[in-house]
Amino acid sequence: MAAKLLSGLLLLLMFSSFAVAMAMASGDGIVIQVHSKFKDRRDLSSMRSHDSRRHGRLLSSFDLPLGGNGSPSDTGLYYAKIGIGTPSKDYYVQVDTGSDILWVNCIDCDKCPSKSDIGVELTFYDPSKSSTGSVVSCSDDFCISTYNLNAPLPGCKANRTCQYSITYGDGSSTGGYFIKDYAHLDLVTGNFKASPTNSRVVFGCADKQSGGLGTSAEALDGIAGFGPANSSLLSQLASAGKVKKVFAHCLDSVNGGGIFAIGEVVQPKVNTTPLVPNQAHYNVVMKAVEVDGDVVLLPTYTSITGGSRATIVDSGTTLAYLPDDVYGTVMTKILSQHPSLKLHTLDEQFSCFSYPGSVDDAFPVVKFHFQGSLSLTVYPHDYLFSVQINGMENAWCFGWQNSGQQSKDGKDLTLLGDLVLSNKLVLYDLEQQTIGWVEYNCSSHILMKDATSGGTYLVGSHDLNAVATTLVGRVVLILSAFICAALNPFTV
Ligand SMILES: *[C@@H]1O[C@H](CO)[C@@H](O)[C@H](O)[C@H]1NC(C)=O
Ligand SMILES: *[C@@H]1O[C@H](CO)[C@@H](O)[C@H](O)[C@H]1NC(C)=O
Ligand SMILES: *[C@@H]1O[C@H](CO)[C@@H](O)[C@H](O)[C@H]1NC(C)=O
Repeated sequence: MAAKLLSGLLLLLMFSSFAVAMAMASGDGIVIQVHSKFKDRRDLSSMRSHDSRRHGRLLSSFDLPLGGNGSPSDTGLYYAKIGIGTPSKDYYVQVDTGSDILWVNCIDCDKCPSKSDIGVELTFYDPSKSSTGSVVSCSDDFCISTYNLNAPLPGCKANRTCQYSITYGDGSSTGGYFIKDYAHLDLVTGNFKASPTNSRVVFGCADKQSGGLGTSAEALDGIAGFGPANSSLLSQLASAGKVKKVFAHCLDSVNGGGIFAIGEVVQPKVNTTPLVPNQAHYNVVMKAVEVDGDVVLLPTYTSITGGSRATIVDSGTTLAYLPDDVYGTVMTKILSQHPSLKLHTLDEQFSCFSYPGSVDDAFPVVKFHFQGSLSLTVYPHDYLFSVQINGMENAWCFGWQNSGQQSKDGKDLTLLGDLVLSNKLVLYDLEQQTIGWVEYNCSSHILMKDATSGGTYLVGSHDLNAVATTLVGRVVLILSAFICAALNPFTV
């Protein structure tokens, strides 16, 4: 069963020549080239001061109920529940810090999955059924700024929609048009207490899907991009004066679900590392890797464009991708302690072996060191996942992936996904331009500060899985919801 399961695994991680080609103005055959959504990005500090001026004192905290788990042999993703429209309907969206747009499947969608093997009930957004929804036109400010333009493109007429198209790192893609409607989020109002509140946001109404997004295997209603760009839900809530640009997740790979909260976290405290400025993603500088106490320093070359040694924190990626040399170092050091281990390659991607004892007793801890005093400890039970393979008892596979093997251009990229982010409170602070984490019990709770009242409130974990149907034969999913800027023209 599981061998079959693994062969269903499809991972096409491409790091270049793809993605965010967007185009606007539906209708005529207009060809638009968007070189990079993030080109000419303005100075972040001026954005920040502008934002904090607008915020005033009405900043609050939001609690997004979370489900899913990071195990590659299970769902392999985490999702949140968000209400949209009037009357409000619930949508299950993957939480993805590697992309910048919230979108949900739309009623008129071609190739959107109609059922999900993850066990969530799928809902399609119907613009005509929400009394507060309106189509975003190509002349709207949101459309113009998302395309990094100063004025609407030629060909844009008032009644034309603002279209988008996104290609993710796993090669799957989605497209549609933007809608403005109410999003209903849980405002934290007391200890373990929240009340729904709404905010107008712009999100994508997806009318076409391809690749993994078009299949039932890992189907959700959509993806919530929590990236740093202005188009993300976080940035929209911040510019509406609702929140500070600070959020945290605690992904629980033990019990599933966890915590996803927008706002200031008071407890636990985290150590932080600076975000590399002016990047399209949450980039950090990784300085060394340590296996079982042996430290190997890494060349930490970074350039304005993220450099060839970019390290990206991405909750939308299941595994962890390491540059060829780092991967080599880590695997060699781990395996040197087990010279008799017989490795089998599964699905041309996973190195698997049989081991009867406790992996935590037998395998070394891997630690990554970042600029500042931040390190990331990854235990054997995090980087190894157990699988059922016919004819192989106690089978385990390594979750480490070699990014060089995925793509030539991505060979120096480190992508830190759920494999290493789970069971930690990860705090993204765009106000301070830092990111940090601390090992944490994600089934417990955190303490958040309510900037409106000055009070502090406990926010607990959720597990939406608990209400979802249990599945037999769930297909393995490795969705790297990871956008890269691109040079592709997109024809409408
Ligand atoms: C993002 O929004 C801020 C504040 O609304 C604005 O000052 C800034 O120019 C925007 N950035 C981009 C790249 O559009
Ligand atoms: C847009 O407006 C023009 C002129 O008012 C009209 O001819 C056209 O049918 C409209 N298109 C759509 C898609 O509504
Ligand atoms: C994590 O927290 C939950 C809820 O408070 C608790 O039941 C559980 O025992 C804790 N787990 C560990 C390992 O401490």
